[in-house]
Amino acid sequence: MKNIIMLDKVSIIRDDVYIVKNIHWNIKKGENWAVIGRNGSGKSFLLRVISTIIYASEGDVTIYGEKPGNTDIWELRKKIGVVSDYLQREYYDTISVLNTVISGFFSSIGLYHTATDEQIEKSILILDKLGISHLSHRMYGQLSQGEQKRVLIARALVFDPDLLILDEPTTGLDIASREDFLKLLSKVISFGHNIILVTHHIDEIIPEISDILFMKNGSIYESGKKSSMMKPKHLNRVLDFKFKVKKKHGRYWAAL
Ligand SMILES: Nc1ncnc2c1ncn2[C@@H]1O[C@H](COP(=O)(O)OP(=O)(O)OP(=O)(O)O)[C@@H](O)[C@H]1O
Ligand SMILES: [Mg+2]
Repeated sequence: MKNIIMLDKVSIIRDDVYIVKNIHWNIKKGENWAVIGRNGSGKSFLLRVISTIIYASEGDVTIYGEKPGNTDIWELRKKIGVVSDYLQREYYDTISVLNTVISGFFSSIGLYHTATDEQIEKSILILDKLGISHLSHRMYGQLSQGEQKRVLIARALVFDPDLLILDEPTTGLDIASREDFLKLLSKVISFGHNIILVTHHIDEIIPEISDILFMKNGSIYESGKKSSMMKPKHLNRVLDFKFKVKKKHGRYWAAL
């Protein structure tokens, strides 16, 4: 299968400090990845490089055959949808859900453009596909955290991106809402999108996740197919905590 993302010797430096160091990471079409690592291990910075929000300080980045500094970044961004806590916090309270989704077409936080009929229709269709069209006319700020996250997924899907990047998307969700959200992710994958999911909870690694990247202190500790990665010996070392790993219903659960 074809590589869609290729990172070669990628580093990110801020204030003379290596935040991310010497990353080799290839993502192939059809793969779904989970990224796991302790707070501050560099996960969000690394994913910002793939989302083309920041440039790598060193190394070689290829995204869908393009080099981010060397191509039309807006065209490239259409291939990658992003949902993050940051986006959820920064979003305006007084915008309708439908306009929130439409704003995805302009990559803006808030809507400052007049949408075409086609853009409006597409946004309505996505809300419907995700089963949240009943929220369309509600104000974003009035929604629960779980509802807001669903709306942001809809926003991220307006260009039918090949890849959806989710940085800790389940923060703040209760157990039932989290399970609903994970079902939604499975649905999104079944529509043909691939995902990269950053999570602190191994039980969020849904069966569709095929590959795992472990980050530790800004470097890759290990990466590869899920079955060989999800072993206590790796997880205990990456997370600096001793626990057992149980597999049930195709998911992994931490037990003390
Ligand atoms: N300007 C800076 N100078 C030095 N270090 C920085 C700077 N900006 C960020 N960092 C550090 O970079 C590290 C990586 O941050 P990042 O947000 O990628 O971590 P993360 O793995 O996403 O963590 P979390 O799980 O808490 O979200 C953090 O330790 C952070 O303190
Ligand atoms: Mg982070």
